[in-house]
Amino acid sequence: MDDKVTIPKLRAMKESGERIAMLTAYDWPTALLLDRAGIDVLLVGDSVGNNILGYESTIPVTMEEMIHHTKAVRRGVKRALLIGDMPFLSYQVSAEQALANAGRFLKEGGADAVKLEGGAEMADIINLLVRRGIPVMGHIGLTPQRAAQLGGLKVQGRDEETAQKLLNDAKILEEAGVFSLVLEAVPWALAKLITERVKIPTIGIGAGPYCDGQVLVVTDMIGLSVGISPKFSKRYTNVAAEIERAAKEFISEVKSGKFPTIEEHSFKISEEVLKKLQ
Ligand code: KIV
Repeated sequence: MDDKVTIPKLRAMKESGERIAMLTAYDWPTALLLDRAGIDVLLVGDSVGNNILGYESTIPVTMEEMIHHTKAVRRGVKRALLIGDMPFLSYQVSAEQALANAGRFLKEGGADAVKLEGGAEMADIINLLVRRGIPVMGHIGLTPQRAAQLGGLKVQGRDEETAQKLLNDAKILEEAGVFSLVLEAVPWALAKLITERVKIPTIGIGAGPYCDGQVLVVTDMIGLSVGISPKFSKRYTNVAAEIERAAKEFISEVKSGKFPTIEEHSFKISEEVLKKLQ
């Protein structure tokens, strides 16, 4: 497919001012529909943990779970750039382990690239992955794998010290070789400054309108989140309400005998065969 989204294409989009649209995906049918709709980038986020698997956070998510979901999403994607999200402790223990795990996303999951959370402290590992041929997307600001250290899922970079650190982190990650950078829950003016100061595309989530692209968690975007969606998210439809409505209608039709009908949902056998059975 010649309109396939590539890493150089994302860079060209930043340069030409074309905004990048990115969503998370965790399964084959959703990936297929989002790809067909024209999404530029799909992320198999470790947010699969709290959005699909019923964990309270992303911390328990394993490599096996991430590879399983990445493989499913890969089968649905033809055009979008596919990124696998490295789960907690799959890249922080050692450089060797980070390399082996990142490689699994490409070799087994079929991802085009990986994403990992963290600033300057991750630069060495990012640089190693990039030098070994694994494209890496960075993620700074609110990094949910560090929610406990950050004191919760809070906006980051509101004071001079933390804002300066985010600016430095962005530059250091760019130098380390990330091809793009997620900015999560940072004030819009700081995200704008970072976006202007780096050549790589920034993708915002709760980071205002001046990033080079935007990402949302798909379950928040379609209204399938069971818990509370963050303030920065936008719900474009209400799939949860539709599922509940359909389930109630099905239950009621089964109980009343309205479903299934002989004419529409059942199979026939000839009178002749039936007679032989009696
Ligand atoms: O896991 C995830 O969904 C993410 C996005 C919020 C960028 O990291």
